[in-house]
Amino acid sequence: MSATDVILITGTSSGFGRLIAETLAGKGYTVYASMRQVTGRNAAAGDALRSLAEREGLSLHVIDLDVTDEGSVERAVQTVIARTGRIDVLINNAGFGIAGLNETYTLEDVQRQFDTNVFSVVRMNRAVLPHMRHQRSGLIIYISSGGGRTIIPFLGFYNASKFALEALAESYHYQLYGLGIDSVIVEPGRYATAVSVNSPRPSDPARAAGYGEIGIQLEQAATDFMASFSAPSCPDPQEVADAVAELVAMPPGARPLRVPIGAPASLEPLNQVLAQVQTNILERLGLAWLMKRDSP
Ligand SMILES: NC(=O)c1ccc[n+]([C@@H]2O[C@H](COP(=O)([O-])OP(=O)(O)OC[C@H]3O[C@@H](n4cnc5c(N)ncnc54)[C@H](OP(=O)(O)O)[C@@H]3O)[C@@H](O)[C@H]2O)c1
Repeated sequence: MSATDVILITGTSSGFGRLIAETLAGKGYTVYASMRQVTGRNAAAGDALRSLAEREGLSLHVIDLDVTDEGSVERAVQTVIARTGRIDVLINNAGFGIAGLNETYTLEDVQRQFDTNVFSVVRMNRAVLPHMRHQRSGLIIYISSGGGRTIIPFLGFYNASKFALEALAESYHYQLYGLGIDSVIVEPGRYATAVSVNSPRPSDPARAAGYGEIGIQLEQAATDFMASFSAPSCPDPQEVADAVAELVAMPPGARPLRVPIGAPASLEPLNQVLAQVQTNILERLGLAWLMKRDSP
């Protein structure tokens, strides 16, 4: 990537998104840091990024984008295109995680979880891909999780949403690689962000009563897990922003499909086995050519 490249990031009001925006802008890229409600409850977060841009002379621009609203997504992408004429990197980062007993969450709760963590990606990619395909180049980074490959018993819907994200991202990878567009799935472990504060509570907590000791233990484990994000021992999320910056800087076509960071580094052998299984599947289907650049 060249320093003049244009990068659009979702969910930059806090956590990984904010650090990724600051880190990439600090390296000289043109960064569009998007967040929802930029004139409302995220006004302070937007102002903080704008002040940083002004202070340090960065090409860092704050725009409004709610990943659950198709009109908002379209408007934001059109704004970037109108100002710069291109989008070189899309970072699908916005997300949250619900924790506890599955049965305490209503269908509406779960739909919101999938809308933000999974369908957001469909909206973002549909808006951005015509421009990347026209450019015949691009990079899409998906912020998944170690929980996109393994299950924590009290994170059922979060795990399901990240498993879905992983499947979706890998299918985009096969469909886009030959068109010059790279895909990378980043799988962080636990890092000190606002993710636990931003985790909505279940709408039907009374359902927990029927679970007896199993419910008590699982709810306690979920509470302890969420509290651990603000413990001093929780790793610095800048590690993830730095890893993303390295991926952006890598030459097109040479980027890995999956990058586990932190504790999920132990997923590497699983990822390798599954990558081999996938290669076999593509070969059996006569589709191995999808993994080559400039294929028909
Ligand atoms: N922290 C971890 O340990 C960890 C580990 C693995 C994966 N992850 C993943 O990393 C990503 C970023 O999370 P984080 O840890 O940095 O937590 P965070 O600090 O809570 O950041 C999440 C961001 O997503 C935004 N967001 C949520 N719903 C949105 C919507 N509808 N439209 C636009 N933005 C929206 C939030 O904005 P608002 O302020 O407007 O809500 C916030 O800026 C998530 O996908 C999460 O699942 C986190």
